[in-house]
Amino acid sequence: MITKDCICENLAVSDEGHLLFAGQDTTALAAQYGTPLYLMDEDRIRERCRTYLTAVKEAFGENGRVLYASKAASFKQMYRIMQEEGMGIDVVSAGEIATAKAVGYPLEQAYFHSNNKTDADIRYAMDCGVGHFVVDGPDELTAINTIAAEKGMTQAVLLRITPGIDPHTYEAVATGKVDCKFGSAIELGHAEEITGLALSLPHIRLDGFHCHVGSQVFDASVYNATVDVMVAFLAAMADRYGYTASMLDLGGGFGVRYVAEDPTIDIAASIREVGQRVREKVAEHGIPMPIIGFEPGRSIVADAGMTLYTVGAVKKLPGYKTYVSVDGGMTDNPRYVLYGSQYTVVPPTRALDKREMTASVVGRCCESGDILQENVPLPADIRRGDLLAFLTTGAYHYSMASNYNRIPRPPVVMLQGGDSYVAVRRETVEDVLALDL
Ligand code: LLP
Repeated sequence: MITKDCICENLAVSDEGHLLFAGQDTTALAAQYGTPLYLMDEDRIRERCRTYLTAVKEAFGENGRVLYASKAASFKQMYRIMQEEGMGIDVVSAGEIATAKAVGYPLEQAYFHSNNKTDADIRYAMDCGVGHFVVDGPDELTAINTIAAEKGMTQAVLLRITPGIDPHTYEAVATGKVDCKFGSAIELGHAEEITGLALSLPHIRLDGFHCHVGSQVFDASVYNATVDVMVAFLAAMADRYGYTASMLDLGGGFGVRYVAEDPTIDIAASIREVGQRVREKVAEHGIPMPIIGFEPGRSIVADAGMTLYTVGAVKKLPGYKTYVSVDGGMTDNPRYVLYGSQYTVVPPTRALDKREMTASVVGRCCESGDILQENVPLPADIRRGDLLAFLTTGAYHYSMASNYNRIPRPPVVMLQGGDSYVAVRRETVEDVLALDL
């Protein structure tokens, strides 16, 4: 059956009150693989890729690109899936490049971001044949030119532009505003300057521009505003330098539901709307239609993920609150600590039980700030040994996990076609110790 916890179509509750994910019993999966455990619904990931690819094809024909922002969840199997689905990728480090390379992902379809690529990163990415660098600023652009010259090659780049758009999301992920560590701002003249520089460097091939205004964005008008600014910028560069950009990458950022109160977003409809806006603006400014790129991360993988924990302790402080400690914490999910992120929390073996108390669900790190969520409605008799499921943990959870307190990271288990398999095995204490001499 479908309950109010079922915030994505891949969730349901069985008659006996077990939470089902991708049609599978999460209680049984916890028993099979242990906790803490990241689950990922492979069919959902593929469905989301296809939604984007189809929508972009409809909106832009052969002139559309979809790049999976792999920072959201980066491990070998993800790049295999992306290759099979025909997705490009956004990578932000030598580590992500190496992971994609390890499974034979065609790196000419990769776009290498980051606001500070080291010389070693630049060399490595060039040696791997990464197709495009997305260049943040003039220091990096000059370094890429120098290294490309040494290698006797020309590097294709996009320039990351800061359009000065406030995406109305949380501060840590708002990247379109001028006061931001990323990109070259139009408002300050930096965007124009770096375009001139790129066009003057002999080992740089400027293919166009990139922007990313923020994450967890629900309002298509944010993208429309971005299109207005960016297309006007392309036209200004055509006037100023006689330069025609062949690509405009509009970044990622479409939001997902963490709690029932979050809106849903129709990605296909939003892309159609953005497509319409791009066509209008390009016609208005009289410039050729560039290739349009999107870089979704969260909206590809977030609701394909779930984390399962086991309760270890329940501490009731009459007159204060109740703490429920689980066997994970800020090491596998730092998002509440960092952003105050809200989650839907379900006791997956007792999903139909009344939840008549509220508790703070906390982790097992030796730190009082190690909180996963507060004011969580739970059954009053929740006890050691019960399971807890945190929903919508497919993006920025495994990829942001740490070994604080030398706690090994959970495995990633993929659910596919009624079956399950380990995509990333559980880390052991020996793995954690492996670097110590
Ligand atoms: N492109 C660029 C250049 C980005 O910086 C990002 C995200 C994306 C695409 C993908 O955005 P998405 O579609 O996933 O919203 N750790 C934070 C999110 C940081 C986002 C960083 N950049 C969180 O857990 O909410």
